[in-house]
Amino acid sequence: MPARPTRVLTGITTSGTPHLGNYVGAVRPAIAASRDPGSESFYFLADLHSLIKAQDPARTQRSTLEIAATWLAAGLEPDRVWFYRQSDVPEITELTWMLTCVAGKGILNRAHAYKAAVDRNRAEGEDDDSGVTAGLFMYPVLMAADILIFNADRVPVGRDQVQHIEMARDFGQRFNHVYGREWFTLPEAVVEAHVATLPGLDGRKMSKSYDNTIPLFVPEAELRRLVFSIVTDSRAPGEPKPVEGSALYELYRAFATPEEAAAFGQAFADGIGWGEAKQRLADLLEREIAPLRARYLDLVARPGDIEDTLRDGARRLRERYATPLLAQVREAVGLRDLSQVRLGSLQEEEAPAAKPPLATFKQYREADGRFYFKLVEGERVLLQSHAFDAPREAGQAIAALRRGTLALAQAPATLGEGVDASDVRAALDAIAAADADRAAKTQA
Ligand code: ADP
Ligand code: TRP
Repeated sequence: MPARPTRVLTGITTSGTPHLGNYVGAVRPAIAASRDPGSESFYFLADLHSLIKAQDPARTQRSTLEIAATWLAAGLEPDRVWFYRQSDVPEITELTWMLTCVAGKGILNRAHAYKAAVDRNRAEGEDDDSGVTAGLFMYPVLMAADILIFNADRVPVGRDQVQHIEMARDFGQRFNHVYGREWFTLPEAVVEAHVATLPGLDGRKMSKSYDNTIPLFVPEAELRRLVFSIVTDSRAPGEPKPVEGSALYELYRAFATPEEAAAFGQAFADGIGWGEAKQRLADLLEREIAPLRARYLDLVARPGDIEDTLRDGARRLRERYATPLLAQVREAVGLRDLSQVRLGSLQEEEAPAAKPPLATFKQYREADGRFYFKLVEGERVLLQSHAFDAPREAGQAIAALRRGTLALAQAPATLGEGVDASDVRAALDAIAAADADRAAKTQA
């Protein structure tokens, strides 16, 4: 049975202009990871999140375009990676509400970003919540919806975001518990320890908050000017220079092969002058960035194409995952089709005998000695499995289908004659609902 690929998901807040630190710490490793055939990647522009910090419409739009173009210029392939804009998937905001209703307010009180705002207010003798929007407070719930809606397994993030992933697990778990089955996969945060933190012009971490960045796609002359403004010490040419603590060396290393980095380190020991070292760094940066910059400029000159790419990603993603998932979640919480209600059955979920016949899984062995299962509804075969070598494998596939952790499209099985995938999904949903019912009754 083909295991479902590991789902790797991360969001990029659309605020500001990407800099070398973002490229080295986020864009470059994520694109490399997206080429792993064992994973299914979801990279999205977290434009709804950006509204929490920035309320400048023109800036939000410009940043969204710049960041989308950056990822595409850096080699992201929208045919093999889900690349989309958060606000193009309205199911995310809908799920946010469902999660809001199970999220503990006390947990949100402890979120770092919110707590930092409260602490600042206290230090200044203000009201705790002065100037704090409900958006800032709810930020982790929106982020949980981003992650849970696609049942992401792994979420690569910076250390500051780990708490949010833990909250996503908590909200997902509560939802699963309240609504009686494993609706959501619980995600794991992945903090890339081997990815360097790039220093900025002043030697502190490169960050837009410190205003010490080298924007990724400035013109070459500006790039060289910025490199020449990197802070160095007063050691003269000919004097040996340590590589430890040198921003210049760290920046060089992030773009060099190990051999080049070693040679640069040797040049430091041999007393290279700062001017020449900067020259070499600028050349090295230009080597990697120039082709990306050319693609970037080409892309931003055709913003309509970027718009189409993003919309197309969101459209396919909704169809494939978001819309069916929300249909299930609505059903789970009881936002249901009223035409199916029979009078007198509203007090409790109706008695099993009154339900329409459920489809059932049948497991069997063929004359070929191999093991199979099928999903049947009365006489009709809805789903016919491929052959398994062991009955356990067939059993596991059935269990995963029942729990909803194995998507129908990935199941080792084919649809029965004239059967529509939506019929099978409906039958699986009904079985899952019955399973949940039974579980709830045994708990009660
Ligand atoms: P900034 O600090 O400029 O506001 P963000 O917090 O928006 O940057 O970071 C976006 C992504 O870029 C995150 O994944 C973060 O880990 C990465 N990143 C930001 N600055 C650096 C840096 N100096 N070195 C390595 N990675 C960085
Ligand atoms: N909050 C994240 C940041 O500022 C961005 C983000 C939004 C995100 N939604 C996400 C990251 C979901 C991972 C998963 O960096």
